Amino acid sequence: MSTFSSTQPQAAITAVGHFLPERRLTNPDLEQMVETSDEWIQSRTGIKERRILDDDGKATAYMATQAAQELIDTHDIDPATIDLIIVATVTPDMLFPATACLVQDQIGASSAWGFDLSAACSGFLFALTNGASFIESGRAERVLVIGADTMSSITDYTDRSTCILFGDAAGAVLLEPSDTYGLQDTVHHADGAHADLLKLPAGGSRRPASHETVDAGDHYLKQDGRPVFRHAVTGMSDVCTDIMERNDLSGSDVDYLVPHQANQRIIDATANRMGLSSDKVMMNIDRYGNTTAATVPLCLYDWQHELRPGHNLVLTTFGGGLTWGASYLTWAYDGSEYAD
Ligand code: ACO
Repeated sequence: MSTFSSTQPQAAITAVGHFLPERRLTNPDLEQMVETSDEWIQSRTGIKERRILDDDGKATAYMATQAAQELIDTHDIDPATIDLIIVATVTPDMLFPATACLVQDQIGASSAWGFDLSAACSGFLFALTNGASFIESGRAERVLVIGADTMSSITDYTDRSTCILFGDAAGAVLLEPSDTYGLQDTVHHADGAHADLLKLPAGGSRRPASHETVDAGDHYLKQDGRPVFRHAVTGMSDVCTDIMERNDLSGSDVDYLVPHQANQRIIDATANRMGLSSDKVMMNIDRYGNTTAATVPLCLYDWQHELRPGHNLVLTTFGGGLTWGASYLTWAYDGSEYAD
């Protein structure tokens, strides 16, 4: 846990970028692939369609680069002034080198170092806290935090319980020091006792890829959805009410909840506990599904035109690990200047 101290500069989000692949995978498309229905998917998850990256040879680094490049172009950032790049992902192009190094090269961030961060659906929020620490400590002036995942590369399209959930995308934010606005507080959790509920069983050092692991389909994501759902509802609601209490925030003080987009029912339950009406909840799960580390920055991008300096935002995530958390930040710039 960390609480902002008034002697440090604050780490403010000063720019946002995103990337979505062109191809849409709709619920009717999935009805042709597995035994499911548009009605079941929408009522159980809120998802109508997701985006799939099917460009030959392009993967997470490509999407992360596109999101970063959009941010650089629209906010007129000199890439040589970026000090650090953190890419949150569970679908790196390769186990190493880090996706962050590939992005660093592609965007021409000649002075930047970087690394990847693995925390599944909590990746972006954990990366944001990491990036903010470098700003607050004075070790960096410009940190690019990216959430990017090519979930289609680890999804089993014969498993109806998971293939309906995930999509591909990337989102990026720039962190810079501010005297006025920025990340105020974070509460993060991990509970490895439930690691088996959501995992990619093979391809790591315990079970390196082999004919046997591929034949068993263990190079695909596995999820025990029901218990994960229960943990997510409790975890997200508790951590959001915790951060509100710690910062003396009531529902009326919060301008927007920016939740990880795993399931509309989890988001509704969280907003309900926080006392927020639906117009204060960023929700785009219907269009993109669960894009893992990309969901929160994608929401920030989609709602950017509504955001004004001083708006109070609560960001929250839950995912594999198990990992979960919430961050309270005050928005730093007039997003209407960057509306599409
Ligand atoms: N279409 C039709 N029926 C289905 C489908 C489908 N696509 N998938 C499952 N079913 C069936 C099941 O077989 C089951 O049938 P049964 O009762 O005959 O056994 C029934 O529907 C209910 O299945 P549940 O798994 O209980 O369905 P649930 O309401 O829990 O919804 C879901 C499943 C959407 C996966 C939900 O459990 C969920 O959202 N879990 C949490 C996901 C999450 O937050 N993950 C963390 C982030 S992801 C990350 O970190 C990478």
